[in-house]
Amino acid sequence: MKRKGIILAGGNGTRMFPVSQVISKQLLLIYDKPMIYYPLSVLMHANIKDILIISSAKDLVLIKKILKNGSDFGVRLFYKSQNKPEGIAQGLVLAERFLNKSKSALICGDNLFTGEKLPLKLKKANNSKKSIFFLKKVNNPNEYGVFFKNKNKKLIIEKPKKKISNLAVTGLYFFDENATKIAKTLTKSERGEYEITDLNNYYIKKNRYKQIILNSKEKWFDMGTSDRIQKASNFIFKYKNKMISYYPEEIALNKKWISKSKIINKIKRHHNSSNYIKYLKKLIVYDK
Ligand code: DAU
Repeated sequence: MKRKGIILAGGNGTRMFPVSQVISKQLLLIYDKPMIYYPLSVLMHANIKDILIISSAKDLVLIKKILKNGSDFGVRLFYKSQNKPEGIAQGLVLAERFLNKSKSALICGDNLFTGEKLPLKLKKANNSKKSIFFLKKVNNPNEYGVFFKNKNKKLIIEKPKKKISNLAVTGLYFFDENATKIAKTLTKSERGEYEITDLNNYYIKKNRYKQIILNSKEKWFDMGTSDRIQKASNFIFKYKNKMISYYPEEIALNKKWISKSKIINKIKRHHNSSNYIKYLKKLIVYDK
C-alpha cells in the first residue's frame, strides 16, 4: 500500500499569544503563503498524495477554506480534529482509520525544510521499509528532541537539560505500518503528552529505523516561536528563487498531477496582484 502523509497542525499555540487567540499558527504568513504550505510541499516532494491534516475543530474550518480537498494541487486532503493537543504521537492514533495499516510520513505543521537534494532524499525515504528520522546539527539542542549515541546505547531525549549532543530530531518522521499500533501503547509523559520521542525510541530499541542527517546546505526551521517565524520568513524571502518549490501547484504541475489549465483557472478566479498569484502567473503562459 502507498505511504500516506499526516500534517500535525494543531497545538495550543501558546507561544504565539496574542494572535493564537484568533488564528492558527499554521496559517500565519511565511513570506507569501501560509506556514502549512511548507510541510504540505515536503510531503508532495516525497510523492505522497493522500494527506490527513489534524488540528482543532475550530482551526480546521479555516485550514479547509484555504486547502479544500486538495484537487487544486493534485492531492487528496482529509481532515481530522484533535479535541485536545495531547502530543504528536496521538496524531498516529487519530489517523488510524485514514492510514488503514499503510506506512506513514508525519510532519509537524510548523516545520520547514529546504535543500536542493531534499526531494531526492524524501523520495528515497518514501521507499524505505524502516522508519526514518531526519536529524540536523543545531546550536540550541535543548529546545528539541536530541539524538544521543555512545558505545552502548542510542536514544532520543526530549528537550534535555544538559547538552548531550547537538543532533536535533526534526519534525519529520517516516514510519512503517506498525506506528499506530505502537503509538496506542504509549503512556503520557510528565508534561502530559504522548511523545513522538517515545515512539521513535521504540523503533531505535528494535533497530527498525534509519537516520538521515541533513547536511549544511539543507536547512531546517522549527517555526514554533515568533523569532523563528521571522527567521524562516527572512530566509524564504532572501533565497526565494534558489530553493525547492513550496508552491503546491508548481510541484503538482512538475509531477504532472495537474494540468496548466487548473492553474489558469485559479489565476482567473483570484484575479489579484498577490505575490503568490504573480508567481503562479510566471509558471504558465497566460492568455486572457
Ligand atoms: O520540531 C521538532 C520538534 O517537535 C522535535 O525536535 C521534538 O522532539 C518534538 O517533541 C516537537 O517539539 P515541539 O515542542 O517543537 O512540539 P510542538 O508542541 O511545538 O508541536 C509541533 C507541531 O505539532 C506544531 O505544529 C503543533 C502540532 N501539535 C502538537 C501537539 C503537541 C499538534 O497538532 N497536536 C499536539 O498535540
